[in-house]
Amino acid sequence: MQKLYSIFTLSMLLASGTGAYAELVDISTPNSSLILNATKGERLMILHYGNPVDKMDLEALSKESGELVYPVYGLWPQNEAALSVTHADGNRTTDLTVESVSTSTTADKKVTTIQMKDPSYDLTVKANYLTREGSDVIETWVEITNNEPDAITLNRFMSGHLPIRKGDVWLTSFQGAWGNEGYIIEEPLLPGTKLIKNKDGVRNAQGARAEALFSIDGKASENSGRVIGAALCHHGNFKILIDTDYSDNHHFFAGINEENSEYHLAKGETFVTPPLAMAYSDEGIGGISRQFHRWGRDTRLHNGDKLRRILLNSWEGVYFNINEPVMEKMMADFSDMGGELFVMDDGWFGTKFQRDEPTALGDWIVDTRKLPHGLNGLIENASRHGLKFGLWIEPEMTDTKSVFFEKHPEYVIKAQNRQPVTARGGAQLVLDLSNPEVQDVIVNMVDTLLSNYPEIDYIKWDANAPIMEHGSQYLDADRQSHLYIDYHKGLENVLNRIRTAHPDVTIQTCASGGGRANWGILPWFDEFWTSDNTDALQRLYIQWGTSYFYPAIAMGSHISASPNHQTRRQIPIKFRADVAMSGRLGLELQPSQMTEEERKICKQAISDYKKVRHIVQLGDMYRLQSPFDNKGVASLMYVTPGKEEAVFFWWKADNNVGETNLRIPMAGLDPNKRYTIAELNRVGEEQLTFEGMTLTGNQLMAKGLEMPKGYTPYYSSRVLHLKAVE
Ligand code: GLA
Repeated sequence: MQKLYSIFTLSMLLASGTGAYAELVDISTPNSSLILNATKGERLMILHYGNPVDKMDLEALSKESGELVYPVYGLWPQNEAALSVTHADGNRTTDLTVESVSTSTTADKKVTTIQMKDPSYDLTVKANYLTREGSDVIETWVEITNNEPDAITLNRFMSGHLPIRKGDVWLTSFQGAWGNEGYIIEEPLLPGTKLIKNKDGVRNAQGARAEALFSIDGKASENSGRVIGAALCHHGNFKILIDTDYSDNHHFFAGINEENSEYHLAKGETFVTPPLAMAYSDEGIGGISRQFHRWGRDTRLHNGDKLRRILLNSWEGVYFNINEPVMEKMMADFSDMGGELFVMDDGWFGTKFQRDEPTALGDWIVDTRKLPHGLNGLIENASRHGLKFGLWIEPEMTDTKSVFFEKHPEYVIKAQNRQPVTARGGAQLVLDLSNPEVQDVIVNMVDTLLSNYPEIDYIKWDANAPIMEHGSQYLDADRQSHLYIDYHKGLENVLNRIRTAHPDVTIQTCASGGGRANWGILPWFDEFWTSDNTDALQRLYIQWGTSYFYPAIAMGSHISASPNHQTRRQIPIKFRADVAMSGRLGLELQPSQMTEEERKICKQAISDYKKVRHIVQLGDMYRLQSPFDNKGVASLMYVTPGKEEAVFFWWKADNNVGETNLRIPMAGLDPNKRYTIAELNRVGEEQLTFEGMTLTGNQLMAKGLEMPKGYTPYYSSRVLHLKAVE
């Protein structure tokens, strides 16, 4: 026994019901436990994921048989599997038993690895679990190594599997669309299979998203109940599969979408899956969100601890109609309003083909017909106005009408013997990032831009086309099925190289709006563009859904013109500003077309946002009243980690005569602290009755404040700044 014990340093040895010894691996976080049975020579089993388990209770758990951690295909082929392999000799069955358990620990993180092997084949699978000091998020992924005499084929290769005990389990998922990203769907898990998937190739968060929440005790609630949250951290095609058969559990699988992506693994090669991040909370969905926000800011979002600048992005202001005087005027106006960063969107480049319409992608040379003094002229102007400068690029793409494509038609994704299928404007094509030469071209382009213009502070990195046809001009015939995976490996290589050289540039990921809101891509990006829909009312919904897994610091949230360009809805500037202030604030309009009142309110919003930016961007979020509940009002707040300060947002999301004026209890405050209340963004509204007063956290959380009552002819909204008094 002694020998076994020394192998399983982390694990515990407990006599199981059969008389054999169960080797328990305890992967605990401050508020959750994952308990595995990793008995050598046996299949790896999961005994528990959820509430923290006391050591005293482990013995009872060890008597349970549990469920397979990583089901493999072949021996019970009627069940869904996490892994399916065709071995070198053509055998399609796999079996995995535990060989060893090891841990590696650094200052603030620990990785527990359970190595498994097929007893009959030289196929090794390592299941890894990463935990970090103070975080309840567990990241799991597998490494599949082929030591068989020849190549094997991976037919399915999920990052993880979790059995969830049946009862009254509800699933929350996100099923959006362009302009309506992050739309929340809640449903009970019924018998059958639920498939949430993406096959776009490039933009994997526009429609369905790679995250799911399982509410164990019936329909999810915001602040109570046991919930498991899971996010697949992968920027390519994904699959979330929940299989509910006659067994006692729902079976949740998440990983790369294997459809048309079978992967051939040469002898000696290892395939590493992307991580699946999971968290458990007994504080409802809000508890899961706060865990993911903290984990994301601390470990995955690029520069997640640095405050973001307030920017003006030129797109909705001028679209492709870029020119020097117009850019300069925008800068001057924005600077007057207290702005910090000017971003020139699409339309600035092109030589033979002019970017007045979707052409010229790939020709990343300033169009001197529009900008006679080049980027330097703009950078100088920005600096004269006290602004940083940023610009838009779409490096993974080209257009058929571009000098780049004329020279390098071999660089695009295209099936053999076919004309390329084009996207935007009948011209756009995706570059084949599986090709290392293409990777070099992109790295060189971005690196040259950032090195030639070190003043560039911000890049909006767009990606507006899906893979329109399955075909690589680079990959061999027998590796065509690698395209969807190798594209994203190539992208990571590109991003690693760019980030090594330029760690401090702020880079936004945009993909036709929120098409790349995924934790897989964010290690290289500081934020994402939340949606091309900037309508303040619909943004309440889009940002609400997106906030389930993503923190406000990552969500580009801009004040745009009224009527809104996407919905044609007219919304007063105060409401537009109050919605944008609940994310990473920016402007998306032509300031010269603003009214005096609009300018005044924007100026005030910018100045007030500076007072609370640290709370919105780095604080804990508490959602208070969902717009999805149709109660006519939506509300949320952010609280600093030490609970000294908070910002409370209240938006009338509807205007119906006779509607109850909901009283909204706050959350996340210290009940024993007293908070002084000051309204922000107040321009002309009647002073609130409690303005300047000091109330206990207890009262604010038990009862909330009486907000203005009655019929308001337009949207109304209020933002309050709470500060604890000594
Ligand atoms: C995409 C983006 C927009 C804008 C345009 C420019 O649609 O989502 O924000 O940058 O491209 O062409």
